[in-house]
Amino acid sequence: MGASYTSVCITGLVLLLQAQLGLSYLLTCYFTNWAQYRPNAGKFFPSNIDPCLCDHLIYAFAGMENNEIKTTEWDDNALYEQLQALKIQNSNLKTLLSVGGWDFGTQKFSTMVSTPANRQTFITSVIKFLRLNGFDGLDIVWQYPGTRGSPPQDKQLFTILTQEIIAAFEAEGKETNRPRLLLTAAVAAIKSFIDSGYQIAELGRTLDYFHVMTYDYHGSWDQVTGESSPLFPGPSDHGFLNFNVNFSMNYWKSNGAPAEKLLVGFPTYGRTFMLANPSNTSVGAPASGPGPAGPYTEEAGFLAYYEICSFLASGGSQAWDTPQMVPYAYNSQSVWVGYDNMKSYLAKIQWLTQNNFGGAMVWTMDLDDFTGSFCNFGRYPLINTLKRGLGTGNPGKNYTVAT
Ligand SMILES: *[C@@H]1O[C@H](CO)[C@@H](O)[C@H](O)[C@H]1NC(C)=O
Ligand SMILES: *[C@@H]1O[C@H](CO)[C@@H](O)[C@H](O)[C@H]1NC(C)=O
Repeated sequence: MGASYTSVCITGLVLLLQAQLGLSYLLTCYFTNWAQYRPNAGKFFPSNIDPCLCDHLIYAFAGMENNEIKTTEWDDNALYEQLQALKIQNSNLKTLLSVGGWDFGTQKFSTMVSTPANRQTFITSVIKFLRLNGFDGLDIVWQYPGTRGSPPQDKQLFTILTQEIIAAFEAEGKETNRPRLLLTAAVAAIKSFIDSGYQIAELGRTLDYFHVMTYDYHGSWDQVTGESSPLFPGPSDHGFLNFNVNFSMNYWKSNGAPAEKLLVGFPTYGRTFMLANPSNTSVGAPASGPGPAGPYTEEAGFLAYYEICSFLASGGSQAWDTPQMVPYAYNSQSVWVGYDNMKSYLAKIQWLTQNNFGGAMVWTMDLDDFTGSFCNFGRYPLINTLKRGLGTGNPGKNYTVAT
């Protein structure tokens, strides 16, 4: 006979020690509803999620039609159910639904925030949709208010939207005697987008967490190789001294976002380039466009961490970018990739805790080596590095270990 249990999450000594010290961090992980379409070992469904790994799971993405939130994939409803079923194994798990994304653009957000009636339509639909599908909150991924076709007034209208959402969430929680729905947003890391998009101090009062997208600083759109998510500036950063995690996070903090609400974005992927001169493999070397698509993620200029493990195993050379605290790699076909590994995660974790930020956000679970079969460091090597390093992960309420 097996023991019956409602939570299988094992908590570590680190957590107990940190709880005693009064420290606690949050680990928030995104997964994408298009990862289900990757070939073979890249295919990812909510059932592939380790329910004990992250504190918050975010489902990306929902869309919008006539100012109402809606599904984007034919099987979203079934996948929502799979996702919520993870709470059977971890009763502390919270799930959020993310609306928007890069491809979604700005037009529907701009229309929705433009009148009180449109905003009300959206908010009413969100509450109904989240409750119907068992979500604990909403994550807004508007890239970005005030840019990419969004007019300047959207900066203020975004604040107003969050104020109205939080008021409605509070009222609904009281009315129905349930915990208030959470409100978070994924926000820009580049200074110009931050300046044109956000009233930082005001958002600090309405948002529960800021998911700062501290990655994609460099990629094949640049003329020279560069790191996607450097912790610090490097010598080749002429004119890009603000393009690093340390700058972005401190900019949000010094402009009025509470440090404990700021989650640092950790990418589980790299950005690739073709070297223009095969013998110059350094950071800042001339580049001539994106590297070839990976076999699973199938997008030029982009490789999942597990695809980078294969890249290294098949003869890629790895180097450490000392000033920026992140690795890069290149091969004999002149492909160059800037990325993150366990070593850069550890460096960033140490910096994160020294700077008292609220925790980490991962983009995405489905790009880590979730099967453990590519990198040979076990399942979810990058996200487990965060979990161990931050001491996150709680046992369930009725915690008993299966025997
Ligand atoms: C990190 O950012 C802070 C605040 O902007 C700055 O004072 C510090 O010098 C930066 N650290 C490095 C190594 O660049
Ligand atoms: C590589 O390219 C960069 C940028 O053009 C240049 O500054 C550097 O000297 C080159 N290094 C080598 C080894 O050729």
